[in-house]
Amino acid sequence: MLHNRNLQVVLARYPEGQPREDDFRLVEGPIPSPGPGQFLVRTLYLSLDPWIWLRMKPVAEYRRWSPRNKVLGLGEVMHGAVVGEVVESRHPDFKVGDLIESKLGWQRYALSDGAGDRLNNADGLTRIAPDLGPASAWLGPLGRTGMTAYFGLMKVCQPKPGETVVVSSAAGATGMVVGQIAKIKGCRVVGIAGSDAKVDWIVRDLGFDAGINYRTTSDLEAALGRACPGGIDCYYDCTGGPIADAVLPLLNDRARWAVVGVIAEYDRPIGDSLGRRPYTMLLARRARMEGFVVHDWAREHPAAIREIAQWMREGRFKNREYITDGLENAPRAFVGMLQGDNIGKNLIRVSSQSGAA
Ligand SMILES: NC(=O)c1ccc[n+]([C@@H]2O[C@H](COP(=O)([O-])OP(=O)(O)OC[C@H]3O[C@@H](n4cnc5c(N)ncnc54)[C@H](OP(=O)(O)O)[C@@H]3O)[C@@H](O)[C@H]2O)c1
Repeated sequence: MLHNRNLQVVLARYPEGQPREDDFRLVEGPIPSPGPGQFLVRTLYLSLDPWIWLRMKPVAEYRRWSPRNKVLGLGEVMHGAVVGEVVESRHPDFKVGDLIESKLGWQRYALSDGAGDRLNNADGLTRIAPDLGPASAWLGPLGRTGMTAYFGLMKVCQPKPGETVVVSSAAGATGMVVGQIAKIKGCRVVGIAGSDAKVDWIVRDLGFDAGINYRTTSDLEAALGRACPGGIDCYYDCTGGPIADAVLPLLNDRARWAVVGVIAEYDRPIGDSLGRRPYTMLLARRARMEGFVVHDWAREHPAAIREIAQWMREGRFKNREYITDGLENAPRAFVGMLQGDNIGKNLIRVSSQSGAA
């Protein structure tokens, strides 16, 4: 999979409700050449993440979500994190063959200045240490996804051995990491996911104590009550929406709730949540609900990456990837992820690693 032309996926129009494949457009062009202080990166894997949906909102609405992030304009390259290989360099600190992770966007080739904040919409660049894990894992458990799981759980939920941890989107990229870390920390773990195959996998293969298919369960609150007979001490919330409503009445005294993602609400105007208001239960249970964003803990990421890599080496932690080949298939895979197609980390394999352009 080596290419002599660049391919980019751009935003064709702002989606109405859930994104559709024709909200994207493919654009072919020449491979750019690095100027002084720049290097050329060939994308190996593209990470498909739910936050990209938020970037596809019209400008005024997106500003309500994040006043600071760069807005995605029509015709611009889709935002997204990649792992890539340096194939040409005019930068003193990056040489051909180096592997990096950065938000270089949905394109086969991209220029970088190493800081990652001027040429693209990146908020940093990570050098990949191949001895800690394969390149693709740096978009999963060793990347932002793993860091989201690790720090949302450890810093916000602060689980103690013997406590009950519930995680939603449990068979997804973040949820699978959360549940496995909570098991390593000695907790009882209950996962909520959208198919029987997903529930089967988290219980049989990952060792979760119980799982619930929220799409086929008629009374989720009752099912959760049965799965959590001692109540819920920690809720790692990837979804918001009706799943969160079912968790709320089951909180224990001093429960901790990490608000990490609200994918069930991304099709609504930002800030306009539906469902139960949490105030009474938070007060009655003296519980804590806290929003979480992964880069808040960036300084501590390197130590957590080493810890997760160690668990992977010891066989205490499993990674699973849901890989689609070819950048041209990214729109379909992205739309599919929002409908629950993926088990594990959703990735596009864009090109193969070679060490040369
Ligand atoms: N705060 C942060 O810093 C941060 C960082 C990364 C990710 N996140 C958030 O964490 C969550 C998980 O992200 P991820 O990258 O790990 O994605 P993921 O879980 O691998 O994939 C998304 C999954 O969401 C589920 N889903 C879709 N619509 C849903 C709905 N209406 N109700 C419940 N579940 C629904 C689907 O699984 P089912 O089959 O189970 O429905 C789908 O597979 C997202 O909300 C994301 O925005 C936050």
